[in-house]
Amino acid sequence: MIFGKKYEKLLKVIYIDLTTSIHEIETLLKKLQFMHTKEKILSINRPGEGNMNVVIRVITNQRSFILKQSRPFVQKYPEIKAPIERITVEKVFFEAIKNESINNYFPEVLLYDEQEKLIIQEDIVNSNDMIELYDNKILRKGDLIKVVKILKGVHSTNINMDYPLNLELRKLNYEHIFIIPFLKENIVESEIKSISNSIINDIELLNTVKIASKRYLEKGDCLLHGDYYPGSWLKNDNDEIFIIDPEFSFVGLKEFDIGVLCAHLIMITGKLTYIDTVVNSYARAMDIKLMSQFTGIEIIRRILGVAKLPMTRSIKEKKNLLDIARRLII
Ligand SMILES: Nc1ncnc2c1ncn2[C@@H]1O[C@H](COP(=O)(O)OP(=O)(O)OP(=O)(O)O)[C@@H](O)[C@H]1O
Ligand SMILES: [Mg+2]
Repeated sequence: MIFGKKYEKLLKVIYIDLTTSIHEIETLLKKLQFMHTKEKILSINRPGEGNMNVVIRVITNQRSFILKQSRPFVQKYPEIKAPIERITVEKVFFEAIKNESINNYFPEVLLYDEQEKLIIQEDIVNSNDMIELYDNKILRKGDLIKVVKILKGVHSTNINMDYPLNLELRKLNYEHIFIIPFLKENIVESEIKSISNSIINDIELLNTVKIASKRYLEKGDCLLHGDYYPGSWLKNDNDEIFIIDPEFSFVGLKEFDIGVLCAHLIMITGKLTYIDTVVNSYARAMDIKLMSQFTGIEIIRRILGVAKLPMTRSIKEKKNLLDIARRLII
């Protein structure tokens, strides 16, 4: 162990973001022996939307790559504390799937540095996240089958007993999924106030949500992605799909991931039938009741909770979604 002010400073994380000079980033990456002495950074940019971490695309005279660094808080909302170890969880996830066939659907990890809380990933070039699905409202059958197949592959991954519990981040998620959306003090549009009231005053429904919430915190037997929605799916110019951002991963109940997936498919299309499509395409036994409850809860939290989606829906559509959600839970 080393002590003293000088060493404390040396051990400090060097936080970088888009305002950091190219020179400083280059110095850090050369110190980490990731960049060669002759390699020069030409520019940096923001590869896409994200709230939790700092994510930067670095373009050098030889290649491009993605830098991701975590903080002890949510990057976009510094007042919300979040465990800095989430970057380690992301690294462990990528390690866990390395020998699985689905590994090809994830960016390669090029470097992980524990001290700097930094992961460097392959740049999935000419890609965008699939958030635009909420506006297009159309999901190609082939894409749906692919995302289900990839999720099934994640769930079938061989995992070590010591996979991180990721409990602190899950507790943050737990609050946002199972608690906050059901609080009476939430401000909702007046037109959906009545259906929202009928949800948050329904004792039976709240009890079911409570039981499901405990199951989210339970230890299961499947590796979960933990945040499986279009914001974690990238599509490139060749129409290939890649999955990113497994910082919420843990070993849990597969019904959670599947339920969240179904919720987003229903929000994209407005159609409940997507549950059957997913279940058929997943083609493995699951607790349909629990999965449907997670689906309903995810829909509610995206409409009534804090983490809303970049989707515009009419009052009628929102009411329809909330009604579907309520029926799925009870
Ligand atoms: N390997 C990659 N290749 C290309 N683009 C990427 C890659 N990783 C991330 N991006 C882009 O950067 C965005 C943010 O990345 P990511 O979702 O990992 O960050 P985050 O801070 O964890 O976001 P969130 O707040 O949604 O959890 C992505 O939506 C995507 O557009
Ligand atoms: Mg993330």
